[in-house]
Amino acid sequence: MCGIVGYVGRDNAMPILVEGLHRLEYRGYDSAGIAIHRAGGLAIYKAKGKVREMEARLPARLKGTVGIGHTRWATHGEPSDANAHPHTDTCERIAVVHNGIIENAGALRAKLVADGVKLTSETDTELLAHLIAREQGTSLVDNVRAVLRQVSGAYGIAVLETDHPHELVVERNGSPVVLGIADNAFFAASDVAALVRHTQQVVYLDDGEIARLTKDGYEVTTLDAVRSDKTPSTIELLDTEFDKENFAHFMLKEIHEQPDAVARTLRGRLDPRFSSARLGGLNIEAKDLLRFKRIKILGCGSAYIAGVLGAKMIERLARVPCDAEPAAEFRYRNPIIEQETLYFAVSQSGETFDTLAAVEEIQRKGGTVLGVVNSVGSTIARTCHGGVYLHAGPEVAVVSTKTFLCTLTVFALIGLYLGRMKDVSPSAGKRLLTALEALPEQMLEVLGREDEFAAVGRKYARYDHAYFIGRNEGYAVAMEGALKLKEVSYIHAEAYPASELKHGPLALVTPETPTIAIVPNDDLVEKNMATIEEIKARHGPVLAIAQGELPVEVEDLIVVPETHELLTPILMLLPLQLIAYHAALARECDVDQPRNLAKSVTVE
Ligand code: AGP
Repeated sequence: MCGIVGYVGRDNAMPILVEGLHRLEYRGYDSAGIAIHRAGGLAIYKAKGKVREMEARLPARLKGTVGIGHTRWATHGEPSDANAHPHTDTCERIAVVHNGIIENAGALRAKLVADGVKLTSETDTELLAHLIAREQGTSLVDNVRAVLRQVSGAYGIAVLETDHPHELVVERNGSPVVLGIADNAFFAASDVAALVRHTQQVVYLDDGEIARLTKDGYEVTTLDAVRSDKTPSTIELLDTEFDKENFAHFMLKEIHEQPDAVARTLRGRLDPRFSSARLGGLNIEAKDLLRFKRIKILGCGSAYIAGVLGAKMIERLARVPCDAEPAAEFRYRNPIIEQETLYFAVSQSGETFDTLAAVEEIQRKGGTVLGVVNSVGSTIARTCHGGVYLHAGPEVAVVSTKTFLCTLTVFALIGLYLGRMKDVSPSAGKRLLTALEALPEQMLEVLGREDEFAAVGRKYARYDHAYFIGRNEGYAVAMEGALKLKEVSYIHAEAYPASELKHGPLALVTPETPTIAIVPNDDLVEKNMATIEEIKARHGPVLAIAQGELPVEVEDLIVVPETHELLTPILMLLPLQLIAYHAALARECDVDQPRNLAKSVTVE
């Protein structure tokens, strides 16, 4: 949830840490800080607010080649200068930055306070600094190990100690930590975004691994002091992919990247010879895939909603019962894991705590789970038996757009792949393949009408409440449309199956509560028209997203091109993303970093 970064090398650490924090800011942005070894001890700067607020407090120059940094999403203690990281012990001999939650913080705090330790923050992290300072081991690694044996919870930490000014110690348990390997310089970070400018060579730490970094090298061991041999892997990301280029916001850039992103998701995966799809990474033989009698998709937030749509696609194509469930709900209901059920875990970051825990729960009970993931080398991707990468490229805006549509594209491919093993005819397969090939071009055409959607966004920005309705796939599109508007513009938006409206929510329909109706050209058009009539009868404004003129007049109508019925949601979501974006602009919201949110939720 937070972002941690560390550097040890020959260059001045300050600019490297600050640039790294800017790259990690989408992980949490309510306070930030750095600590750097310099002559005479640790230089620590931290501040409530964005990284730039902390940056304003930094001296012009600060000599020091070893340091750590942090950007925060508050779990313990409100955003403040005192609760900002790094945290130190009373003598400022130890500095710690931390991503995660210490679950037994209460007991540790009580012990320290009982021993007369004066705490200066409300955080769980500060406890680690005091505990490490009290250890008498011969090395910083030993002291960190000794403390972490007393700690339960999820954490990725980086630690400095004044007695060892040439080294940096990092540890991972549940929260991601990746090392960056360069010539005489070593980095540590919560994700590769902070490293990619300096190196393509990375080492992913696994749970329970601790690394000691100096300018001459790194060593990875376990909490039991057993050496871990790690092989660096090469990341295929370019530094420029993390820049906004000429776009005002990452969200807008990523919306406009979608045609290319979907084209990358499709690359090498269309199989015209068999009117099917090619999915090389599933790591399951076709004959074994056919033994699964049911499919369940898990994820959180938009990833869960992509699963809801994906389940409908797979069920329609492969005629296998398929549904989706929020990962946290699934893992805490002591789920019955059936051998004949195939599970998919959806996560763009590949680090979402509840989705990872659901994967581990399935594996613990002997089930088969595949990943649909964007971040290559992420924990969920490395933990699943196999899966499909989105290849959407890095997504920096907290609000997911391109990874959502690429996930839907992957589910269309999975549905086709399974369907062509069963009852889907070659001609039906060909029809979907043709539509998939045409999709990026059609998306480009729709995105070319941004001004039209921007005007609607500005118009609807004046409302504080809104309904989204639809039926079947239309309802799942409504769920994602409502989430986008909520997340980025703070308009209270709710999605409902259109059929449910008259069973309660209709009570809130007024001229001040517009309804966004998702009306694909399917066999439920008339039913949707009836619902729209019921809303209009109560003077509720209606904005319809449709695939042609409607027999009923509405306040605003947006028409998207026809395509294969399973791909219609992809074209219908483009205007909804841009309406949310422009409504947020009109409401002067922080589009890329909405309040209270973060890009990768690595805590429960
Ligand atoms: C979507 O816009 C949000 N950022 C959020 O709901 C997100 O989808 C959720 O946190 C899951 O993230 P993941 O795909 O990285 O697992």
